[in-house]
Amino acid sequence: MTRFGLNFMIPVKFLFIQHIKRHTVLVLGGLLPLMGWSGMVHAADPGNGGKIYATHCSSCHGEDGASTMPGTPDFSRRERLFKPDMALLVSIRDGISVMPAYKGLLTDQEILDIVAYLRTIR
Ligand code: HEC
Repeated sequence: MTRFGLNFMIPVKFLFIQHIKRHTVLVLGGLLPLMGWSGMVHAADPGNGGKIYATHCSSCHGEDGASTMPGTPDFSRRERLFKPDMALLVSIRDGISVMPAYKGLLTDQEILDIVAYLRTIR
């Protein structure tokens, strides 16, 4: 009887360890891509964003964000900047009404740099 009990316990213990190992692999396997992904997205650089803004955006939105064109948000008055970064990213990337899409011309990272710059305008 004791013999049987022992023989029975060993596989159970083995399975339990396998189970923990499998979960560790699953948890690490789930976390690592996330960590890698967030590592690839650099902190936004408003200095770089300001340069790109001067080249691509100031013709409509004005230098320092003070637009003179009717219907164009004035960033010096914080117009539209209540929207979250990701919403602004989508508008700039895909275009919004008469504003052209910058997809293919600017990377998401460059657009996020510009958004960071817009948030520094006073
Ligand atoms: C041809 C003129 C023009 C250019 C160039 C332009 N914009 Fe715009 N932009 C507009 C107009 C007009 C709107 C308002 C569109 C609307 O909401 O009807 C706008 C809206 C926006 C908004 C608000 C989006 C929202 O979701 O409300 C942001 C942010 C913005 N522009 C950023 C940029 C950036 C950054 C660039 C350069 C990469 C740029 N714009 C280039 C005309 C322009």
